[in-house]
Amino acid sequence: MTKDEFETLLVHGAFSVDEATGALTVPIYQTVTFRQGELGIEPEFDYSRSANPTRRVLERQIAMLEEGNFGFAFASGMAAITAIFCLFSQGDEILIPLDLYGGSYRLLDSHFKNFGFKWKIVDTSDVSALESAFSSDTKAVLLETPTNPLLRVSDIEELSRVSHSHNALVVVDNTFMSPYFQRPLPLGADIVVHSATKYIGGHNDVLAGLVAVKDAELCERLLMVQRSTGGVLGPFDSYLLLRGMKTLGIRMEKETENTESIARWLVKHPGVDKVYYPGLENDPGYSVQKKQASGAGALLSFELGEEYSIKTFFSSLKLITPAESLGAVESLACHPTTMSHASLSPEMRAQMGISDRLVRLAIGIEGQSALKADLDNAFSAAKAAGKEK
Ligand SMILES: Cc1ncc(COP(=O)(O)O)c(C=O)c1O
Repeated sequence: MTKDEFETLLVHGAFSVDEATGALTVPIYQTVTFRQGELGIEPEFDYSRSANPTRRVLERQIAMLEEGNFGFAFASGMAAITAIFCLFSQGDEILIPLDLYGGSYRLLDSHFKNFGFKWKIVDTSDVSALESAFSSDTKAVLLETPTNPLLRVSDIEELSRVSHSHNALVVVDNTFMSPYFQRPLPLGADIVVHSATKYIGGHNDVLAGLVAVKDAELCERLLMVQRSTGGVLGPFDSYLLLRGMKTLGIRMEKETENTESIARWLVKHPGVDKVYYPGLENDPGYSVQKKQASGAGALLSFELGEEYSIKTFFSSLKLITPAESLGAVESLACHPTTMSHASLSPEMRAQMGISDRLVRLAIGIEGQSALKADLDNAFSAAKAAGKEK
């Protein structure tokens, strides 16, 4: 699909006009149940856990945007990932990336482990490491690319080829790229999942999860999980996502333009030891990122210099808010050790490569100079405070 076609789909994809009234925005069908017609004939809508007309428009929309055939909307990204894990059985194994989202890891470690589900952590940026990790129990590979917070890039096409040769499904958490920059299904993945709370919603006002697949059999299995577990997205939140999504393209462009400029500025900053951003030419993921995505995205991380106080750095930010989440119009700063990855043990974080001096920025659509001035001010205050004892 061309960029032009995608941009048009964002606005006119699954819904353009309400045929009954001429309304340009999607009606919110705030109903639990629907009148049934002739007994024995299954109606299109009978109960909103199974299907709801507003949610259905959103589900069609994500399927179109991801170049899939079927979409599913859940009450959060974690509800969507839970539904995907429910596709597997006792004894099945899943391969997961080094710095998998902390919540997904916690879900495995605190719940699915109890049902006999197994996993192996692999550096998915290394195809041969993945190749040697398969066992006869491996049923799926879960990818995040780039990962959070270290922005490691994995080759979706290559890993899908290898995984399929081992009869394993490829699941890509595409939260950080959104379908605007990266579409894993045409690259060979089987399932795409989003925390739509992030770029797809884009305004920090709705929690949601979306899934898209191509295959009809997978669709049936997911539909059964969605209906049975019931973690569906409500009609109003479905509407909010459809509204936010219309500006996905222009938001991603502006956020990425800001991020690229800030990344280059940080590389030269004396307060920074290392910058992680796949849009930088010397980043290890640069060439694969360029091959499979049309932008590097609006997340970056950096290691704060040894002589700077990490606490003062965060407390001195005025425009960029220290907060969990990412992908919205406001810029946010995250300290993975105490925020997004706090539920992991220090050993686990060390294994993932997450240091206590790591700062992750999710850049919004504010002015670039204002963002740099805010960071510069925080660097100065952190330097004056000096390293924590
Ligand atoms: C990559 C990724 N996947 C899944 C999730 C979970 O999404 P939610 O917070 O919408 O449940 C997050 C949340 O930060 C995330 O970053």
